[in-house]
Amino acid sequence: MPQFDEKSITQAVIDRMADCPDARFKQVMTSLVTHLHDFVRDVKLTEQEWITAIQFLTSVGKTCTDKRQEFILLSDTLGVSILVISLNHPAQGTSVESTVLGPYYWEGAPELPLGSNLAEGVKGEPTFYSGRVLDAAGSPIAGAVLDIWSGDGEGNYDMQLPGETGMRARGKIRTDAEGRYWFRSIRPSCYPVPTDGPVGEMLRAMGRHPYRPGHIHMIVSAPGYESVTTHLFVADSPYIDSDAVFGMKESLVVKFERSPPGRGPSGERLDVPYYTAQFDFRLRKVPERTRQAA
Ligand code: BEZ
Ligand code: FE
Repeated sequence: MPQFDEKSITQAVIDRMADCPDARFKQVMTSLVTHLHDFVRDVKLTEQEWITAIQFLTSVGKTCTDKRQEFILLSDTLGVSILVISLNHPAQGTSVESTVLGPYYWEGAPELPLGSNLAEGVKGEPTFYSGRVLDAAGSPIAGAVLDIWSGDGEGNYDMQLPGETGMRARGKIRTDAEGRYWFRSIRPSCYPVPTDGPVGEMLRAMGRHPYRPGHIHMIVSAPGYESVTTHLFVADSPYIDSDAVFGMKESLVVKFERSPPGRGPSGERLDVPYYTAQFDFRLRKVPERTRQAA
């Protein structure tokens, strides 16, 4: 009868997968078991600590609803989400970098005409965003779509507001024949990731703050090009150097230029100061191999 000690147990678990029909799954599980056992040995995990960990993961699961994904938040705050993104979408040349999707994406935002105000009635300082979508050689991509969402000027997403507010500060904008886009929204402020659940408790226990620097989200896509899930970050936002989900990329930091009240970029009158933010997105072509496979 085989029995195992604190070393031989690892190989014993791996050996039980001898008949696993899926080679990739076997590789992933072999590595997972190896690292998990090494971790337990490394910290000499106590029984109480293991129970605490199981209770924590149970609580993470129970906190998930159709509107809230605490496991993604756990992955984000432990840097796993951005690690997976970095491995699968490495920075390449001048192409726009990817960052985390986050939990507030809402599929089906309306397509709005160029120049629209996405944040009609939303709290926050007016900001005029503009730029171009280009290919790797710098040629404009006409008809590229920016699927945009952000919190308001106080850091709240529509999904977090009480009651059924519907979509706010969201919309799709399509580039013109010269690859240009422009739209109005607000200057996003920094905000905390949700801290009223087990991940918040974990952050407090780790002595960490929960804040993300101000940013606006977008998924930029065009036929024949790789879609990119990204943000633009407000250059002088608090927490720009300590994003709670490690999503900040220097190449995505934009200086928001402040203007006094007066005429905005499209001639509209503003009786409060406003900002302009300019950014060009460079997309990569879908590799020929991938296109053929599709
Ligand atoms: C966000 O940027 O919307 C976000 C990303 C990760 C965790 C929480 C929020
Ligand atoms: Fe966000």
